[in-house]
Amino acid sequence: MEIIIVANEEEVGRVAADKVIEHLSGLATPVIGLATGSSPLGLYAELARRQDEGDIDFSHALGFALDEYVGIDPAHPESYRNVINRTVVEPLRMAPERVRVPDGAAEDLEAAVEEYDAAIEAVGGVDVQVLGIGSNGHIGFNEPFSSFSSRTRVEVLTPQTREDNARFFDSLDQVPTHCVTQGLGTIMDSHCAVMVVTGEHKADAVAAMVEGPVAAVMPASILQFHPNCIVVIDEAAASKLQHADLFR
Ligand code: F6R
Repeated sequence: MEIIIVANEEEVGRVAADKVIEHLSGLATPVIGLATGSSPLGLYAELARRQDEGDIDFSHALGFALDEYVGIDPAHPESYRNVINRTVVEPLRMAPERVRVPDGAAEDLEAAVEEYDAAIEAVGGVDVQVLGIGSNGHIGFNEPFSSFSSRTRVEVLTPQTREDNARFFDSLDQVPTHCVTQGLGTIMDSHCAVMVVTGEHKADAVAAMVEGPVAAVMPASILQFHPNCIVVIDEAAASKLQHADLFR
């Protein structure tokens, strides 16, 4: 893991964008893995700005979102299909048909989740996977005790994750209870992973992921085994690291 500690949220977006561009530029068909949520918004905005400056071109890129709710109306503004359209596809001017989001409304969910991993493999894998981390250490929606070798599948959201995401809905009971998520094994297959984390509320999860043991209770800790994982965090998110000086 490469840990990069920067001053603030704006810097996180800028430095993470540098890393994404470094790993995608020169590829004829860059494949980017996409997280939703608040953490990567600065990164996506910075990538849009850098595309306008000619540093990168997403017109031939392919995208695969990490996850989607099950049991949400696909037309709901907070379905991840719509979130990805709003925060990634439109600002980066990607071709909508080249950006996939797991189909949480598929009639045959089992077939749909299997096909998702196969579709990623068919294009040669994800070149850069953008990640955030949940306050409970989840990546994608791989909640604590997910198998380290899991593939894309249907999962149950923990009460903690539903509470964390209630801010996107009118009330807690509107937050779906289930999701489709890429597995930890799927995420570990990415060629490069760029995680962005900001804020003190993530400091415990960051410390456990980086400095704790690799353990199922902290799903993100599996990234210690990722061959090319870069974690870009602000000072607040780094505040519980015992060895922050080693990373500076
Ligand atoms: C969402 C996802 C999640 C989020 C995590 C952090 O696609 O993969 O793992 O990255 O829940 O969410 P925020 O950034 O909203 O704090």
